[in-house]
Formats: sequence, structure tokens, C-alpha cells
Amino acid sequence: MNQRVEILQALRTIKDPELDRDIVTLNFIADVKIEEGNVTVHFRPDTAKCPLLDQLTSEIKQKVLQVEGVQEVEVVIDHPKQDEPVEAEQEFGGVQDLNHVKKVIAVMSGKGGVGKSLVTGLLAVSLRRKGYRVGILDADITGPSIPKIFFAGRPEVSYSPRAMLPPVSSTGIKVMSINLLLKNEEDAVIWRGPLVGRAIKQFWTDTLWGDIDYFIVDLPPGTSDAPLTVMQSLPISGILLVTSPQGLADMVVRKAANMASQVGVPILGIVENMSFFKAPDTGTEYEIFGPSHADETANALEIPVLARLPIDSNIAILCDQGKVEECQVPEFNAVTAWIERVTPDCQLPKMPA
Ligand SMILES: Nc1ncnc2c1ncn2[C@@H]1O[C@H](COP(=O)(O)OP(=O)(O)OP(=O)(O)O)[C@@H](O)[C@H]1O
Ligand SMILES: [Mg+2]
Repeated sequence: MNQRVEILQALRTIKDPELDRDIVTLNFIADVKIEEGNVTVHFRPDTAKCPLLDQLTSEIKQKVLQVEGVQEVEVVIDHPKQDEPVEAEQEFGGVQDLNHVKKVIAVMSGKGGVGKSLVTGLLAVSLRRKGYRVGILDADITGPSIPKIFFAGRPEVSYSPRAMLPPVSSTGIKVMSINLLLKNEEDAVIWRGPLVGRAIKQFWTDTLWGDIDYFIVDLPPGTSDAPLTVMQSLPISGILLVTSPQGLADMVVRKAANMASQVGVPILGIVENMSFFKAPDTGTEYEIFGPSHADETANALEIPVLARLPIDSNIAILCDQGKVEECQVPEFNAVTAWIERVTPDCQLPKMPA
């Protein structure tokens, strides 16, 4: 075998632990020069101040020295971007080859405040608990709440010249939201539909998501242009519709269903949130917001009601504290089981032995 190929193969066994990819795939090897057993590897890490530089450099030396015929190895660090500011817009967009997303599920509601972000969060948490690799895209540009329910403080997005690296929650869920890119999280974002769509597309293409089994998108509320653009921008497998007893106006749900059929995306089912309150002392259930209409609507649309979730102050408290991953909502299990059932090609990743 060609010595250069052997060297590159050896380099392919070195993984950047942060990016979870080998340094050749990541394009960190700018050049390999060979002169009678003397090898010079030009190493160009993605970030100017790569924290693992020493470790990676010594690994490169070690691995290349093991290749037959190699006597000496020099590693030259190329820092072409060291003194330049990160020109995000010029450089981004080249990581799609590193993203492998199996299923995209969008969470949608006809109206705001019914618990869409909670359902997005619970779905991500329960799939993660089962061992799937999960990412969340908070596409609700105007009122993003996903980072708030997953993190106690404001997590940092890391940047490399090629991509944004999403913050990872305590159980390993990758989260991206416009909220994390704003200077002040109180800054209002007032954009029209097409712009929102473009931003969402960029979150999809310019974020290093890596291998994801379930990618869950918290769509903007309502049935305006913005969610439609989002749905057309991403390869969505199915939509989960969230309602509450008081929010379930027939018209709103029909609108949502129309929109889904416009883009040819199936609605996987309805989750009715805040359906009842169960008194902790007596166990009696009270329908605080009135009786459920979920079954009628589901029948009309020929889709199943997957769950009816209780009003539970623990949920609200944990979400406020950024601890949605600690929520226990047994009623939600049926939703997760259904999602697994209707996306059968999304097998659990094999755990390393
Ligand atoms: N079943 C529940 N029990 C208790 N609190 C809940 C429940 N569902 C949602 N909440 C709380 O209600 C509020 C609104 O929920 P959430 O943010 O999920 O709604 P939303 O539909 O995403 O709203 P928006 O349209 O603003 O994005 C949150 O504070 C959340 O913690
Ligand atoms: Mg929300």
C-alpha cells in the first residue's frame, strides 16, 4: 500500500473527542510530506486555540511512527486563522457531511402556551432515557424556551470556523436555539416568515449535530408562514400536535392538519396537555379546563390521541429550574412508545461493549 495512504489511515484512528470525529474527516490534516522516511504532517485544527493541541500532536507523532518505513515525524501546526476573527458566515455550512440525522419530529400547536415546549422536552428526555441520540432545535425564534427548561443558567454555544457546536444537556441531549446566540436573552427577535425559515435552515446545516437518532423541532406557535417555512426547510418525518382542552378549537386543529398536508407531512398523533388535575390527597381527577375534545378531533382527522397529560406543579417547577430531565410523567410513555413504533427504522445505537 502507498505509504501516504497508510499514514492517512493511521491518522484516521485519531479522534477529536470534542467533535467526535477523526482528524482526517474533520479536514484537520492540511498536508503530509514524505522524504525518505521523514514525514512532516501539517496539522490545522479547526479552532485557533485548540485545547487538545498537545495531546493530538503527540498522538499524531505516535501513530505515524508506527507506519512501516517511517523514521521521523514532525508535526507542523498551521494556524492560518489564529489572528483572524471567526468569519462565521463565510466559513459555515460545511458540516452537513458530518451530520447524520435519522428522524425529524416536529412539535406543533394551533395556539401558544399549550405546552408545546414541554412536550418537545419530554419527548427528547424519554427517548434519551431509552438510549437514543437526541437533538432539539428550538425553532420558536420569537419565544424560545427550550434552553430554559434544559439548563439552569445560559449555556454557551462554542464556535469553530466551520460550525456551531450545540450545548449538551446533563443527560446528553444536544440543544440549539436562537436564544443562545443573542447578546441578551431578553432581546426580542422580530422576523418575518422567510427569514425565520432561513435561520432555521442555518441551524440545521451549520450546527455540528453529529449522529442523531431523533431530532425534535419545537415549531413556532400557530399556523402562520413561519412554521410552514420551517416545515418546508427540514426533512420532517412526522408532526406531533399538542393541544389543551381549552385550546382545542376545531378550526385551529383543522388548520394545522391542512398545513401538514400542504407539505406532505403526516400528523403522528395528538397529545392533550393540562387535561386534568389529580388531587394528591384523594386521587380524584378534576378537569380544570373543561372536558376533553381530543377524541372527537382525533377521530375527525383520523389520527390517534397518544396521551392526556395532567396539570402538575412539579412539572412547572422543574421546568422553571431548567430540570425538565428530572420530570417523571408516566402518562407520556405512550407517546414515546408510539413514536418508536411509527419510526421503526430508527434502531437504538449499539452500545460499545
Ligand atoms: N402539564 C403541565 N403542568 C404544569 N405546568 C405546565 C404543564 N404544561 C406546561 N406547563 C407550564 O406552562 C407554561 C407553558 O408551557 P410551554 O412553554 O411548554 O408552552 P408552549 O406551547 O411551548 O408556549 P409558547 O407558545 O409560548 O411556545 C410553562 O411554564 C410550563 O412549565
Ligand atoms: Mg414554546
